[in-house]
Amino acid sequence: MGWPYHFLTLSQQDVLLRRQTIDRYALIAHLAALAPALLLTLLRLAVRAAGLIPRNGHNGGDGGRGRYSHVPGSPTVKAQRSSGLGLLAARWRALKWWLGDDVVVRGVQWGQRDEWLLGLVWTGVLLVLCVLETGQDYLHLTKRFGSIAISQLPIQYLLSLKALNPYAYAFASSHEHVNRYHRVLGRVIFALIIAHIVFYNVFFVLSGLWLKRFFAPVVFCGVLAAVALHALMGTALVRVRTLSYRIFFITHLGVALLTPVLLFFHAHSARFYVVESLVVFLVDIAVRKFGMITHTASTVEIVPGTNLIKITAPMPAHKIEDFRSRPGSHVYLSLPPEGRTSNHPVSKSFIFDLLFNPFTVAAASQDNQTITLVARRRTGPMTNMLSQVASSSSSSSSSTTSFPPQSPYPGDHATNTITLAIEGPHGAIGKQFQHLLAWGPSRTLLVAGGVGATFALPLYHALRRDLASSSPAHVHFVWAIRSAADATWAMAPNSSSDDNEKSLLDDDNVHLYLTENLMGNDASSIELQDMRGSSRNNKNSRRPNFQKIVDDLFRHGADEKVAILVCGPDEMARDVRRRVGPWVFKGREVWWHNESFGW
Ligand SMILES: Cc1cc2nc3c(=O)[nH]c(=O)nc-3n(C[C@H](O)[C@H](O)[C@H](O)COP(=O)(O)OP(=O)(O)OC[C@H]3O[C@@H](n4cnc5c(N)ncnc54)[C@H](O)[C@@H]3O)c2cc1C
Ligand SMILES: NC(=O)c1ccc[n+]([C@@H]2O[C@H](COP(=O)([O-])OP(=O)(O)OC[C@H]3O[C@@H](n4cnc5c(N)ncnc54)[C@H](OP(=O)(O)O)[C@@H]3O)[C@@H](O)[C@H]2O)c1
Repeated sequence: MGWPYHFLTLSQQDVLLRRQTIDRYALIAHLAALAPALLLTLLRLAVRAAGLIPRNGHNGGDGGRGRYSHVPGSPTVKAQRSSGLGLLAARWRALKWWLGDDVVVRGVQWGQRDEWLLGLVWTGVLLVLCVLETGQDYLHLTKRFGSIAISQLPIQYLLSLKALNPYAYAFASSHEHVNRYHRVLGRVIFALIIAHIVFYNVFFVLSGLWLKRFFAPVVFCGVLAAVALHALMGTALVRVRTLSYRIFFITHLGVALLTPVLLFFHAHSARFYVVESLVVFLVDIAVRKFGMITHTASTVEIVPGTNLIKITAPMPAHKIEDFRSRPGSHVYLSLPPEGRTSNHPVSKSFIFDLLFNPFTVAAASQDNQTITLVARRRTGPMTNMLSQVASSSSSSSSSTTSFPPQSPYPGDHATNTITLAIEGPHGAIGKQFQHLLAWGPSRTLLVAGGVGATFALPLYHALRRDLASSSPAHVHFVWAIRSAADATWAMAPNSSSDDNEKSLLDDDNVHLYLTENLMGNDASSIELQDMRGSSRNNKNSRRPNFQKIVDDLFRHGADEKVAILVCGPDEMARDVRRRVGPWVFKGREVWWHNESFGW
């Protein structure tokens, strides 16, 4: 079968008919992508109205207590497991697990299987919509590719929203999780646009019109939009993002605002979609700016003997309640104009107009009306500014401050205050916490590496407090740290809640692993001596053996449900997941969550 398309000369009426057909298919593609979010949102609202699911993850405060769940190992559970439905459910769980695995090609990670599957299926659907009813008309096909691509633009914007993301709401997920599909759809749209560009160029060249049409305003707007999209795709590459998050961020923002304007003039028929895209984008920014951000005079201090910065931010009572009901959630930190005072010259840089960095809420205290963040100083402007602010008061008083005397880090025990803008709570786990309680794991394992404990620790406390179906003794927390000082921020009594939790050092369910630097940098500090004392018992000086930890967790009973939550370096999360997989394939029920640093 040869190439079916030809350059046709159409009558006015046929041109009009072609335009109507293109618009109809673009609308179908648009509505098909919106439909899942719309339908599920309506369903959730209906169920909520009927009072069947909790609002914002709240369930009336009982945390799932009082719900009936079968006792693991009981005859009922055994019968359910071996029934046809039970076996089918086990297969479904294994399939879901398999779909959640990473796709790794020559050591490079290329997203997860479900992203590829969805991406391929959706590309197939859109390609069909690009081709149907195009007949032999080459220009119809060419224009159709462009229109179908632009019909997906509002969906692409909706998928990226932080406050009003309908997909996050519909799927009880969060913007950073949904962002995985934003990346997938971005690539699909880009591929369709490339096809549109190639087809048009072939047409212009073969018709001898290339130079004349290229600079025609309507075409040139499209050319500029294409250049902008190439810049966006180029700077979104993981390598560029890692090299400079700023370049990625500024390009993304600039192109997101500019492209709809260019496309507005490039294609009349696309106007509805580009206006829709811009409107949802701007409304989301407005909602975040005026509804979700708290400006708060925060205390910033360096955790002695580490490059960790502890930020204590006062918050209104209702916000504290929000954070407490969503343990493990994160906020975006930025520097508002009030924070940029001459007290802290470093804060005056224009770069802070472009920064909003995510940090996990390590503690939310109703008594003190504060939340606590713990940030590792990295190489970028935000963590370095925080570090300098924390250090500044100590450098001015360094002649008098001498504790701890041997610390190699400037600013130890220093405190300072700066106004910060805090936006949140955000994050999938905060939304899913109540569902986890209701799911009722028999055993729960929390794993953290380094500063990943900002995520795991509040969840550990909340789960021990709220989990009805398993005894608190069945919630374990494994924490690997490089030096003992890295854990001191978490050791203070009540460091992460108002509840009377015992110190982590006295808690047999907390397993600290010192992987390096057992003697620490500030061997004189009291905290470290405490840690060393306890490391004689259950603390290990090497990395945790996840094979053994995971196997021990599952060996208690085939009917037990197990929840595993990880927050640490990618390698650690991969390691734990690799050990859990075989148990899922054996039919075990697992609630898995990997909180990762990037998206
Ligand atoms: C959900 C989440 C929770 C986090 N919690 C903590 C925590 O509790 N403690 C801690 O020390 N670190 C945490 N991080 C990492 C922390 O955000 C970065 O280490 C920090 O932003 C680095 O700031 P910087 O000024 O040194 O460098 P920057 O150059 O500003 O950023 C470096 C890297 O941080 C990430 N980053 C920055 N801004 C954003 C953004 N708006 N959205 C997504 N990623 C961004 C990117 O990976 C970027 O490459 C968390 C990250 C995420 C995604
Ligand atoms: N919400 C979030 O998304 C969030 C929040 C906070 C932190 N984080 C994550 O937490 C990580 C921690 O950063 P950090 O700088 O504080 O870490 P760090 O100081 O490097 O500590 C990581 C610890 O984990 C251990 N570890 C690493 N891989 C392991 C493995 N496969 N098995 C067992 N132990 C392993 C390390 O041991 P070695 O010394 O042997 O390497 C080290 O003790 C970040 O990379 C980030 O991904 C995420």
